[in-house]
Amino acid sequence: MPLLELEEVGKHFGGLPAVAVVSLRVDVGEILAIVGPNGAGKSTLLKLIVGLERPTSGSISFDGRQIAGYPTHAVSRMGIAMVQQTPRVFPSLSVLENATLGGVFGTERGHRAESEAMDLGREMLTIVGLGDRHQDRVGNLNLHQRRFLELARALAGQPKLVLLDEVMAGLNESELSASIEMVRTVRERFGITVVWVEHVMQAVMQLAERVVVLDFGRVLSEGPAETVMRDQAVVEAYLGTASMASGGGDDA
Ligand SMILES: Nc1ncnc2c1ncn2[C@@H]1O[C@H](COP(=O)(O)OP(=O)(O)OP(=O)(O)O)[C@@H](O)[C@H]1O
Ligand SMILES: [Mg+2]
Repeated sequence: MPLLELEEVGKHFGGLPAVAVVSLRVDVGEILAIVGPNGAGKSTLLKLIVGLERPTSGSISFDGRQIAGYPTHAVSRMGIAMVQQTPRVFPSLSVLENATLGGVFGTERGHRAESEAMDLGREMLTIVGLGDRHQDRVGNLNLHQRRFLELARALAGQPKLVLLDEVMAGLNESELSASIEMVRTVRERFGITVVWVEHVMQAVMQLAERVVVLDFGRVLSEGPAETVMRDQAVVEAYLGTASMASGGGDDA
């Protein structure tokens, strides 16, 4: 049984399809990358999974249960966490308080004690490379550090599935290798399944076990990274966009 399964999922905004029709399955423990040109519907797809948007058609099942249209807090209790393209950290709280918040939200087993949540927050901050920044204000972190703080918060909730939206955009070479290692650790140490939207092809080639290419809200190609990136349809979809050549993406 797949961990996550989307069947003919669509999302229209005022009649225009952001996601036209997408069917997709993700197995337990997989690292799946979703790539595609700007506006292809990648972020919308992740938001549909985590309940930030409601699908206009299709079904989404997670761990054998239908979740399409469920509110985010319900989906999060079931074990899906997301790191959004624009980090959503709480600026008035310290780094440790932000990370701990992910652990105090409820799970299906009930609420965690605050001390347990804080231990989880500490552990996850170490994993994302912010272990020495506990007492810092979030305002002292740069964009990349805020993204990884949001990842620490997501992990502190001990999810089964984590959705990442372009967390590697704009990183330098050493930050990029560190982030790739970080995502590997998340999977190896905690067995968390990763669905990851990314423009940075170098990272996709190194990390993804399977790649799904979206274009105009549809799956254009799917398979191992090397195969998919040689697919003529994929090459054409990227023509005229700088993303594939430069490995850069929007820093929305
Ligand atoms: N809330 C919204 N209201 C109206 N249109 C939207 C909304 N969210 C997304 N769209 C539109 O849906 C399409 C897909 O957007 P989406 O953000 O999912 O693309 P993306 O693949 O994540 O792009 P990028 O690589 O630039 O982040 C775009 O045309 C976008 O303008
Ligand atoms: Mg996006």
